[in-house]
Amino acid sequence: MCATTIGVFDSGFGGLTVLRELLPLIPGAHFIYLGDSARLPYGSKSQTTIARYAVESARFLEAHGADHLVIACNTASALAMREIQEAVAIPVTGVIDPVVDAAYQRHPNSDVLVLATTATVQSHAYRDQCATHGLRANEKACPLLVPLVEEGWVDNPITRDVLRVYLSEALSESSPEAVLLGCTHYPLIAPVIQAVLQELGSSAEVIDSARATAIAIERAIRLSHPASSGPATFQCYATDSVDKFARLGSQFLGQPMPRVELLDLGG
Ligand code: DGL
Repeated sequence: MCATTIGVFDSGFGGLTVLRELLPLIPGAHFIYLGDSARLPYGSKSQTTIARYAVESARFLEAHGADHLVIACNTASALAMREIQEAVAIPVTGVIDPVVDAAYQRHPNSDVLVLATTATVQSHAYRDQCATHGLRANEKACPLLVPLVEEGWVDNPITRDVLRVYLSEALSESSPEAVLLGCTHYPLIAPVIQAVLQELGSSAEVIDSARATAIAIERAIRLSHPASSGPATFQCYATDSVDKFARLGSQFLGQPMPRVELLDLGG
């Protein structure tokens, strides 16, 4: 068996999109997922608050046996990576570099559109990382999307209308070749994003952050742990509404959720 235990953290359901990709990629691994749903959304909060929340979650996962940490949250990756790395003694992988790498591989030297939370956009972490790869990024904050996804409204006329407004505003400023999903909640509505882009006359390719991140993590883990067979296992913690988390989580994960444990990380 692969002895690795991988902690996966997000403010809510979004990180399950990364976990869904990771489970088949790393056989034999044990995953501990933590959704800090009581304090969501992170994307509208200050850097200090986001860093405090993210560090508490990272410490919890390390204390529960994680030997690798996946920050499956763009907002925490953009605003709290340094604080998380200083707080734990295990390797930490964020989501921003893998997504930008994937965009660069497929569309070098191009204009890209980054959809993300307000905090991620204000940090300009994507713009800066894209610039190191020769990509020109237009960043668009989409604060209404996380609540819609958390409500389970993934295939819903209201979600489609909200996307029409955000995407037509963004497309009036640039003509991207790729659209980077800079929030781990967004892969759940990727088909709707692609459909609305087409409706608005854009042929931009949607780059799925979850898949790109999972591939990068699998490579990192393979270097330190021998390959193994057998299904990966996982356990799940949420800081609020465990019933809702279990119900919607299984829909997002594409398989039944294990029992979701309620966790109190404080205020
Ligand atoms: N899923 C998170 C991200 O990737 C953020 C959602 C939130 O605002 O809490 O940015």
